[in-house]
Amino acid sequence: MHIVDIIAKKRDGKVLTKNEIDFFIKGYTEGKIPDYQISALLMAIYFQNMNDEESTYLALAMRDSGDSIDLSDIPGIKVDKHSTGGVGDKVTLVLGPLLASLGVKFAKMSGRGLGHTGGTIDKLESIPGFKVVIPVKDFISQVNKIGISIVGQSGDVAPADKKLYALRDVTATVDTIPLIASSIMSKKLASGADAIVLDVKVGHGAFMKTEEDAVKLAQLMVGIGKLAGKKMTALLTGMDEPLGHKIGNALEVYEAIETLNGQGPKDLVEVTVEIGAHLLLDAQIESDFEVAKIQLQEALQNGMAYQKFLELVEAQGGDVNSLLDPGLLLSKKTVEILSEKEGFVMDINALDIGKAAMRLGAGRETKDDEVYLDVGLDLHKKIGSFVKKGEPIATLYVRDKGIDEAKQLILDAITIGKEEKKIVLIKQTIK
Ligand code: URA
Repeated sequence: MHIVDIIAKKRDGKVLTKNEIDFFIKGYTEGKIPDYQISALLMAIYFQNMNDEESTYLALAMRDSGDSIDLSDIPGIKVDKHSTGGVGDKVTLVLGPLLASLGVKFAKMSGRGLGHTGGTIDKLESIPGFKVVIPVKDFISQVNKIGISIVGQSGDVAPADKKLYALRDVTATVDTIPLIASSIMSKKLASGADAIVLDVKVGHGAFMKTEEDAVKLAQLMVGIGKLAGKKMTALLTGMDEPLGHKIGNALEVYEAIETLNGQGPKDLVEVTVEIGAHLLLDAQIESDFEVAKIQLQEALQNGMAYQKFLELVEAQGGDVNSLLDPGLLLSKKTVEILSEKEGFVMDINALDIGKAAMRLGAGRETKDDEVYLDVGLDLHKKIGSFVKKGEPIATLYVRDKGIDEAKQLILDAITIGKEEKKIVLIKQTIK
């Protein structure tokens, strides 16, 4: 078999076989096929697409390119969730402790942020001392002890995806359904959970800009997961504006703590509770969806979820005292942005808000960029809010870079007009 023939076949719009897909994934992972040939193949896939069968073979080949985490030493049903990436998406930070406080086993491997979307691991690192790299056996024993652990991906999980993702990022081949679906599912299938909820973001801050594309991605991922024997649910949730108010690593930990103490923004609570209710049912802890939602709401209000978060922080070496006043984790240098108009906020371009946070240093433009954990922004207004001219619309937490650019991006991202708009956050559920 020759890689040139495989590239030509896909270039001409033909369907690749399982053997061909296994061949190029193995060859690339082992360093036998160079970046330039895989770049050409990725671009051919981008233009010619893959059918569901090819995408499934690709996900399975990438899963099998490295280790699969064996969670069988944790009794019961292990759950996981994954977001396709959004702005201000701190759901995992709230959902994990919330579910664990109700007896669910939450053994999660999370990623770092890239581009305008943040990553849970960077966020957790803004808690002084919090260790995101721990041996798998300690990860498992922590889940057995306190019901939760959140760590970075181990070096050997889906190494093919790591290489491919880095290459896609620099060859403009990230945003295509078969490559996103196989990338996400290869990691999910290797990370050992029995039940998975996928939060497929749709809107201008997400990879999927239209509901139609988001449905296609969701159905494909659910199909791949089921084929591999997992309980699967995908929710389509809006990324028409950032989730919650705070964007940036320590800022998102701050908002997660507020939410775990029953003071969270409505949209963040809604998405977290919806995902949580599916997982409470999947874990067979509750059988009625509406009752599950009430239990989750109660655990946010009565302090149980926050207590579990503190246990998580302590178990992974984090300084619990630093959370007594999470404002101390933020940069002391702030800049207020004042509204230049009066009216209703009609649109907040989440992509540009994410870019603004990135320019301040909260995210990486390339994977080797340094991240400032204490910078970002707090949006005071959401879609539907009324704002007066001269009223603060956002506070920037800054260091030394990107301030003017971030300010302009934010002012341009927020559309103010006459209409009081309402948005639907949870758009569809796909099983
Ligand atoms: N997240 C992933 O893990 N992979 C993608 O391709 C896109 C989002």
